[in-house]
Amino acid sequence: MTAPPRIGARAGAGKADADNKGASAACGKGQTAKGRRGGSESGLRGSPAERDAAPGVLVFSFAALGYIPKGQGSQASGLDSMDQGEGKTTHFGFRTVDETAKAGMVHGVFTRVASKYDVMNDVMSGGVHRLWKDAMMDWLAPRPGQRLLDVAGGTGDVAFRFLGRAPGASATVCDMTEQMLVEGRNRAEAEKMGDRLDWVVGDAMALPFADRSFDTYTISFGIRNVTRIHDALAEAYRVLKPGGRLMVLEFSQLPNPMLQKAYDLYSFNVIPVMGQVIAGDRDSYQYLVESIRNFPDQDSFAAMIRAAGFGQVKYRNLTLGVAALHSGWKL
Ligand SMILES: C[S@@+](CC[C@H](N)C(=O)[O-])C[C@H]1O[C@@H](n2cnc3c(N)ncnc32)[C@H](O)[C@@H]1O
Repeated sequence: MTAPPRIGARAGAGKADADNKGASAACGKGQTAKGRRGGSESGLRGSPAERDAAPGVLVFSFAALGYIPKGQGSQASGLDSMDQGEGKTTHFGFRTVDETAKAGMVHGVFTRVASKYDVMNDVMSGGVHRLWKDAMMDWLAPRPGQRLLDVAGGTGDVAFRFLGRAPGASATVCDMTEQMLVEGRNRAEAEKMGDRLDWVVGDAMALPFADRSFDTYTISFGIRNVTRIHDALAEAYRVLKPGGRLMVLEFSQLPNPMLQKAYDLYSFNVIPVMGQVIAGDRDSYQYLVESIRNFPDQDSFAAMIRAAGFGQVKYRNLTLGVAALHSGWKL
C-alpha cells in the first residue's frame, strides 16, 4: 500500500483556498515536511503521482461552496436518506444534492471554518463539547501502547485527550480537510505532542491504511458529514485489529419532543447567527445545524454499526440525547 499523505509541520503552512481546490492540491504546496515520519518537500509522502494513486486520497476538484439556502426542515430522516446507492442523491444539510457533490461541499465548509473551528465549538456549546469528549475518553479508557485512529479528527481534540490518558500510546488523525489538520498540527506543536501524532489527509469511506492496523477507531462529530455512512463503518471495521474498538461521538436526537423543540429553536436561530458574528460565515453553520437534524436516531445508528459487523454495540446519551456515544467491538 502506498503511504498516505501526511501534512507538513510548519505552522500556518498550506493555507488552502476554499474554492475549487482539491485536498491533494491544497496539501501539495507551500509546506515543509517535518512530520515524525518525514516526507517529501511538499509535505506529503511520495511523489505527486504516488499521492494521486494512494487509496483514499482525494484527487478530485472541490466545487466552490455557494449559498446554502435555509433548510425546509424535517425530522431526522434516518437510513433511507443516508445511503441511497451509487449515482443517487444525498443530504447536504436540508438540501438534496448529488452524492458525488457532497464531499466537496463538506470540504468547503470545513476549509472555511477551520481557523475559527475551536473557538466556535466552545461558544456554540458553552464548552459542553469538552465534557462530551471527556465522557468519550472515560468510556474508551485508553491504555498505554494503544494505536488510535481518529477519523474526521479535524483539529485533534480527541487524539490529544487520548494521548493525555495513555502515555505510551500513539495516534493518527485522519481528515479530508487539510486546513483542519493544519490547525491541529499547530496545536500539537504548541502542546509538545507532535512526536506522538500523525496527520493524514484521507477519506473515511476509503481509508489509506492497511487492514487490522489500529486498536481503537474514533470519530467525533464527523460521521454525519460522511456521504455513505455504511462505507465509513465498513472501513472502520477493516482497519481495526481483532478485539479493536469503535467509538462514535455524534449529535443525536432528543427522545423528549418538547426538549427537541427547544433545542431546535436554539440551534436554528442562534448558531447560524453566532457563526456570522464570530466566524463571518452564517451559511456553514446553517449547514452544521441542518446536518445534525438529518442524522439517524440512536437506535437506528446502533443498528448500522451492528450491520457493519461490530458486536457488543451500546450507546449512551449525553445531555439528554443532544449527543450520544456509540461503542462497538470487532470481535
Ligand atoms: C465537526 S468536525 C469534527 C472535528 C473533530 N473530530 C471534533 O470532534 O472536534 C467534522 C470533520 O469531519 C471531516 N470530514 C467530513 N467528511 C469526511 C470524510 N468523508 N472523511 C474524512 N473526514 C471527513 C471534516 O473535514 C471535519 O474536519
